[in-house]
Amino acid sequence: MRIAVLSETEGAETRVAATPDTVKKYKGLGADVVVQAGAGTKAGITDAEFEASGAAIAPSREESLRDADIILKVRRPADGELAGAKPGALLIAIMDPYGQDAALKNLADAQVAAFAMELMPRITRAQVMDVLSSQANLAGYRAVVDATAEYGRAMPMMMTAAGTVPAARVFVMGAGVAGLQAIATARRLGAVVTATDVRPAAKEQVESLGAKFVAVEDEEFKQAETAGGYAKEMSAEYQAKQAALVASHIAKQDIVITTALIPGRPAPKLVTKAMVESMKPGSVIVDLAVERGGNCEVSKPGKVADHKGVKIVGHLNVPGRLAATASSLYAKNLYAFVETLVDKESKALSVKWDDELVKATCLTRDGAVIHPAFQPKA
Ligand code: NAI
Repeated sequence: MRIAVLSETEGAETRVAATPDTVKKYKGLGADVVVQAGAGTKAGITDAEFEASGAAIAPSREESLRDADIILKVRRPADGELAGAKPGALLIAIMDPYGQDAALKNLADAQVAAFAMELMPRITRAQVMDVLSSQANLAGYRAVVDATAEYGRAMPMMMTAAGTVPAARVFVMGAGVAGLQAIATARRLGAVVTATDVRPAAKEQVESLGAKFVAVEDEEFKQAETAGGYAKEMSAEYQAKQAALVASHIAKQDIVITTALIPGRPAPKLVTKAMVESMKPGSVIVDLAVERGGNCEVSKPGKVADHKGVKIVGHLNVPGRLAATASSLYAKNLYAFVETLVDKESKALSVKWDDELVKATCLTRDGAVIHPAFQPKA
């Protein structure tokens, strides 16, 4: 059994799909691991460290891929990137599959069995494989660090001989994994934190972190959580009520961190241009949803924008801004999944195609897109 760890081809990607720690674990499963030269550089992992953990270093993508049974990546490979891969090889990555029919067809044509880690069901057994959680948690932390760096004032209240500095007011919109970590981080820095969400379960979680919950708690709110724990897209009426509540609240905030997402849908627009203009100059908005269309009307993907004195931070790939930590958690998520695909006795690949984790994540197999949610439209 041979495992290939490829370098990322997307320029902004800093993470890597394996670490020396997981290489050792793959060796323990009986696998040979080949790492493409330089794959860990941006995450602070040298080829020498990979070699010391038992991996072989291959100079090119082609050589890394040769005879690989499992190919590990952070992002979906670009068209042509898998040229030379063994037919039937398993490709495991964050696939960003929604609305990507052509890219999924390319994966099918490459004859690989492609697995999308972000489709892992949120069941107890798969928590250790949950890449959305491992990466969103870091993004939530980093959003507060980035906001703090852009904010021209202090976060905690300070009583000094020269006068009292008030605590910053931080409002977190969307209290899922990223939002809850943002709340916890802002609280640790001494900010006064409020948060909102459309799922009722979020209320208690927000309050348990010492923040105040602000939301329109009507009948629709009580039904807003799907069986999978995700938010539904809210009605136009709810969105209008939410906007009215948020508008008066935002005007009094120093920092707003938005994390609201709906699986498979564009991010809900929660912060309008008028709301941005209601904030004091020097205030900061961090839009973590920027890659999915943004929660704020005036955020610019990949930029720190200035709108009438309010800074709107729209960094892409926020987990990648903590490349070493993000890689180490992502690599562990991948290892936990791969372990379920290997027979411990024979130390050979043994995919149980009817396992619910496999069924939920497998996008392509035997030259076709097989996932029911991503069937090409007739
Ligand atoms: P997400 O990344 O899909 O969305 C982020 C947050 O935005 C969610 O809390 C969502 O309710 C909120 N949101 C959506 N529309 C909104 C709107 N219009 N206004 C305000 N907020 C809005 O969600 P994430 O972070 O993946 O978490 C979803 C839930 O799943 C959470 O309850 C989390 O605790 C739970 N979860 C469960 C796991 C498990 O059981 N294994 C693992 C990870 C998360």
